[in-house]
Amino acid sequence: MSSTKHWGFHTILFQNLAPLYSGFLFVLMSLSNISGLPSYEALQGNVAEIPCNFTMISEEGIALILWYRGNSSTPIYILDARNGLTNQPKHFPSDILGDRAFFDVDVIPSVLRIKDVTEEDGGRYRCRVDYKHDPTENICIWLDIIVPPRETIIMDKFGQHLHGLIGPYNEGYPLLLICEADGGRPPPALTWKKEGKVLKDNFTLTPQGFSRNEIVLPELRRQDLFSSLVCEASNSDIGAPLFSSVTLDLNLKPLDVKIITTNRPVSAGRQVELVCETWGARPPAEITWWKGMDRLTFVSDLLTPDNNKTVSTVTFTSEAKDNSKNITCRADNSLLKDSVVSDVHTLEVYYVPQVTVSSRNISSLNDLVEGSEITVDCNIDANPPKVDVWWLFNGSTINTNQKSDIIIANHSLTIKNVTKNHNGRLQCVAANKEGEGWSEEMSLMVNYQPVCKSLESKEYAVLAGSKIKVTCEVDAQPSDVQFRWSLNNSFGLLSLNTFTENGTTSVALFSPQSEVEYGTLLCWAKNKFGEQNYPCNFTVTPGAPPEAPKNCLLVNQTIETFIVRCSPGKDRGLSQHFQLEVYNKRNKNLQNNISASDAPFFVVHSLPPGTPFILRIYSANLRGRSPPETLQARTLDVNYKSTKKELIRKRKIPNEETDFYYVLKNNKHFFNR
Ligand SMILES: *[C@@H]1O[C@H](CO)[C@@H](O)[C@H](O)[C@H]1NC(C)=O
Ligand SMILES: *[C@@H]1O[C@H](CO)[C@@H](O)[C@H](O)[C@H]1NC(C)=O
Ligand SMILES: *[C@@H]1O[C@H](CO)[C@@H](O)[C@H](O)[C@H]1NC(C)=O
Ligand SMILES: *[C@@H]1O[C@H](CO)[C@@H](O)[C@H](O)[C@H]1NC(C)=O
Ligand SMILES: *[C@@H]1O[C@H](CO)[C@@H](O)[C@H](O)[C@H]1NC(C)=O
Ligand SMILES: *[C@@H]1O[C@H](CO)[C@@H](O)[C@H](O)[C@H]1NC(C)=O
Ligand SMILES: *[C@@H]1O[C@H](CO)[C@@H](O)[C@H](O)[C@H]1NC(C)=O
Ligand SMILES: *[C@@H]1O[C@H](CO)[C@@H](O)[C@H](O)[C@H]1NC(C)=O
Ligand SMILES: *[C@@H]1O[C@H](CO)[C@@H](O)[C@H](O)[C@H]1NC(C)=O
Ligand SMILES: *[C@@H]1O[C@H](CO)[C@@H](O)[C@H](O)[C@H]1NC(C)=O
Ligand SMILES: *[C@@H]1O[C@H](CO)[C@@H](O)[C@H](O)[C@H]1NC(C)=O
Ligand SMILES: *[C@@H]1O[C@H](CO)[C@@H](O)[C@H](O)[C@H]1NC(C)=O
Repeated sequence: MSSTKHWGFHTILFQNLAPLYSGFLFVLMSLSNISGLPSYEALQGNVAEIPCNFTMISEEGIALILWYRGNSSTPIYILDARNGLTNQPKHFPSDILGDRAFFDVDVIPSVLRIKDVTEEDGGRYRCRVDYKHDPTENICIWLDIIVPPRETIIMDKFGQHLHGLIGPYNEGYPLLLICEADGGRPPPALTWKKEGKVLKDNFTLTPQGFSRNEIVLPELRRQDLFSSLVCEASNSDIGAPLFSSVTLDLNLKPLDVKIITTNRPVSAGRQVELVCETWGARPPAEITWWKGMDRLTFVSDLLTPDNNKTVSTVTFTSEAKDNSKNITCRADNSLLKDSVVSDVHTLEVYYVPQVTVSSRNISSLNDLVEGSEITVDCNIDANPPKVDVWWLFNGSTINTNQKSDIIIANHSLTIKNVTKNHNGRLQCVAANKEGEGWSEEMSLMVNYQPVCKSLESKEYAVLAGSKIKVTCEVDAQPSDVQFRWSLNNSFGLLSLNTFTENGTTSVALFSPQSEVEYGTLLCWAKNKFGEQNYPCNFTVTPGAPPEAPKNCLLVNQTIETFIVRCSPGKDRGLSQHFQLEVYNKRNKNLQNNISASDAPFFVVHSLPPGTPFILRIYSANLRGRSPPETLQARTLDVNYKSTKKELIRKRKIPNEETDFYYVLKNNKHFFNR
């Protein structure tokens, strides 16, 4: 498109119209004109033919034919036909016409031809025919000289001249085009045409006298692309009209967009490639890809050679959270509003189950006490959603056949009666065809009131006036405990303040001053779940002989040795040692006397073979000795060959003489104290 600023018609872009009009003979008659005379038209620069339709009663009767123009009384052309009209009449054109004019009387009616007519040649003509005998005849004619327009000018609403390919204009928008004719008399009619069809043929005259035809195309459409709009100017029916044309260039919206990749589920972490096509936009559409609300950036676009179609490829790595997100391919011509077209592809991403565990008893999880019921849910997010679920406790799979106290149903785990045994780590595992997903571990910590660490009550012995440290150790959850101590003796229950605390251990300092102060020390600990139900108790006595050793056993008998092993009895608060006396059963002689300080464990050597013995085992401390434990024993015979079979037989039928393996327990009556 080229344009020159045009403010009126000062700029004369002269176009030589002669070739368009040459060779034509322009004589037309209109029925009337302002003068009321028969009117003829001739194009400027061409030949005008002005007829003189005399009645010609007799050709021979004509003497002179004179042509006048305007009001002038001076003829502009004289034909002397006194020798007869057909007998070479004499022609006398005036200087005004010169050799431009010729009066042709060989045609009927006769015509005055004037070449190269100018505007000055227009006006009133009079043909005066002087007859020899008849009265003179005057025939008046009006000649219009048509001045064709110099050019037609197409402009936009700003007065910019438009030529050739114009635009681009936006699809859907209106377009106003103005056509004006430069010059021309009478003012030419202007007609807008498109593909040969008249769009608008009425025109107006500007105050300056120019013809003007404004056309509004209310809405430019796709079909208008490259269509030509022609403005024709014509001020007579003679000759071809003058015209200018413009060809429309348009910005077009994309027609459609399609994601052409087939939609298939994809595993998380895999690369996804999608292809989208759009067509119909001009200039080519811009394609953007979106995942949900996020713009995707790894995009490559390709344009078909005809610029019609854009093929765009996007790649991205699928993630679990992309499942059921929409991938949108959006095509748009940024030059045009509302030109967006889009296609959507809903992603299906397969992923390993994402597993979390949560307790329905969140608030009480920290205050979990024995006996309560808790339910832990396994929350699974998986695609495909079909999953196998199992639970782990401390890393091992929970088998509900073995642990009936745990109920696993649907995706939750319920413990009806929580105990200390449930302390540990719970974990849920879910598996689909993409793999296994493990939850974080959930720690179960059951709270309980303090209990004594040792089930047995301990005995302490102390001399009156001496001090003793008594240690009370408890087990509690949480282990943040406070202690209190009491002394239970013949005076009743007295609280004791001389103690220290360190964690779950408390040490009381006790110093009985006389026999009557001895008694039982009681210790209670409490945590936020309460005080222990039964106190730990410690008997403090002035001391007593220890308890007898228990569960004595005879092992590893040979022909001259055996071993005796027992459990120690209570020491009654004083350190004890152990004693074994070996008596020959036959002669009642003391064969051996062995001491042990740490534990009742004795190895007896150098015994005569094949001899029965009585064994007395006792313990002793500062306050005396315990009652003895007694056993019978026998060394093996020299020629004794032990076989397993015999051993079994002998064990089955015990016999005092032969049973070397038999253990006597607490045979208190064998020996007197
Ligand atoms: C000339 O005049 C005659 C009679 O007056 C008429 O019949 C004829 O149509 C006229 N011719 C033209 C060309 O005007
Ligand atoms: C010719 O005469 C008419 C009336 O007879 C008059 O109106 C007109 O102005 C005259 N034209 C010229 C050029 O003298
Ligand atoms: C042209 O004609 C149409 C109706 O045919 C009319 O609406 C419009 O106003 C006319 N325009 C001019 C400039 O006369
Ligand atoms: C552009 O491509 C589309 C789809 O292939 C087709 O329907 C349309 O006719 C094409 N338009 C042009 C102008 O080539
Ligand atoms: C995804 O696209 C579908 C179909 O176009 C639509 O029905 C759905 O609402 C969209 N989802 C979201 C989250 O935009
Ligand atoms: C845990 O929740 C279940 C039901 O949701 C309830 O029956 C149970 O008593 C709760 N346990 C505790 C310790 O709050
Ligand atoms: C398991 O879930 C189903 C449906 O959600 C429910 O009807 C059923 O009662 C649940 N079973 C248990 C033991 O909670
Ligand atoms: C919970 O378990 C404890 C210890 O195993 C048991 O003493 C108690 O009776 C149980 N309680 C219930 C309600 O089953
Ligand atoms: C489980 O592990 C915890 C430590 O994480 C441990 O305290 C608890 O005794 C274990 N439970 C069993 C039953 O092994
Ligand atoms: C002392 O402790 C033992 C074992 O814990 C218990 O059997 C006994 O009843 C307790 N005695 C007192 C007086 O609390
Ligand atoms: C408390 O006991 C811990 C270990 O049992 C020991 O390291 C610490 O020194 C004790 N604190 C006091 C104040 O006795
Ligand atoms: C008893 O004999 C067995 C096998 O001969 C031996 O392994 C064991 O150590 C002996 N026991 C003692 C306490 O010597």
